Amino acid sequence: MDVESLVRAMPKVELHVHIEGTLEPEAAFAYAGRNGVTLPYGSPSEMRRAYEFTDLQSFLDVYYAASSVLLTRRDFYDLTWDYVERAAAENVRHVEVFFDPQTHLARGVALSSVVRGIACALSEAHGRWGISSALIMCFLRHLPEEDAMKTLRQADGYLHLIDGVGLDSSEIGNPPAKFQRVFAEAREKGLRVVAHAGEEGPASNVADSLDLLGAERIDHGPRSMDDPALVERLARDRVCLTVCPLSNVRLRVFDRIEDHPLKAMLDAGLAVTVNSDDPAYFGGYITENFLASVRGLGLTAEDVRTLALNAIEGCWLDEAGKAKLRAELDEVFASS
Ligand code: HPA
Ligand code: ZN
Repeated sequence: MDVESLVRAMPKVELHVHIEGTLEPEAAFAYAGRNGVTLPYGSPSEMRRAYEFTDLQSFLDVYYAASSVLLTRRDFYDLTWDYVERAAAENVRHVEVFFDPQTHLARGVALSSVVRGIACALSEAHGRWGISSALIMCFLRHLPEEDAMKTLRQADGYLHLIDGVGLDSSEIGNPPAKFQRVFAEAREKGLRVVAHAGEEGPASNVADSLDLLGAERIDHGPRSMDDPALVERLARDRVCLTVCPLSNVRLRVFDRIEDHPLKAMLDAGLAVTVNSDDPAYFGGYITENFLASVRGLGLTAEDVRTLALNAIEGCWLDEAGKAKLRAELDEVFASS
């Protein structure tokens, strides 16, 4: 099998996907219609054509505006179901999904509609395709820590459905130190911790996410490469980095996929993985992220296998679940 066929056939683990970022324009129009919400676009194709981003903030403005069509539990269920259908078709076996409660609470949507809608679709995906999952509640870093704290406490009744907390939105000007207390409280509640860092912000945000927030994985993290001592630490401690190549190009972190440091990160021994971030906005889901990386960076079959193994190692399945995925992966690569 050639490398691209291996990418398509192999079992995949997705560790960085925002459920709101899977909102395709056609679905946005469908939800807008049934909810009586008006979008600032005439059609799904016009909406798609507006996706020309210059940086993270220019994307976030569009992304938060589009999320205004999500109002009911059914919307969150349908959104998540559409995503898992695609994931199943791409041989995703395990997914850890982010959601942004504050985006919805601010519009008067009940937290129960958000969490129960998403969790119900994820549970049905397990029954239908055997896709396992985890749910990660992200705090918006452009808002004050008190707002995150209030959200965390509101989630008390849903902690049986939520596995961890994350940190997303505008990285520049909103360092990890701003959220130390809320992450400490989340850890006390038994929640696992990840954080976006080193996407647009400096390498120091990566170290601070580990040291001040207790993050066990770093979402994005390519700017880590600016600090050789940090690279050594991340490699030594096998800190999983959930890299999103198409996102980084579309948000102009790197001009072209050929300039992306993914291959250099692999060669430096980092536990990097390939993920889709906001696939409805960035031109592709997990398979497309792998294929763009293979084509742009000349990744070998061995590189692809390492990326897949890193995701299995870094995910929150138990050891038996990981062993099963490793065996499936070995089977695909052995038959190549
Ligand atoms: N970075 C920060 N916040 C986000 C992103 C991202 O790539 N996607 C959705 N929210
Ligand atoms: Zn992200």
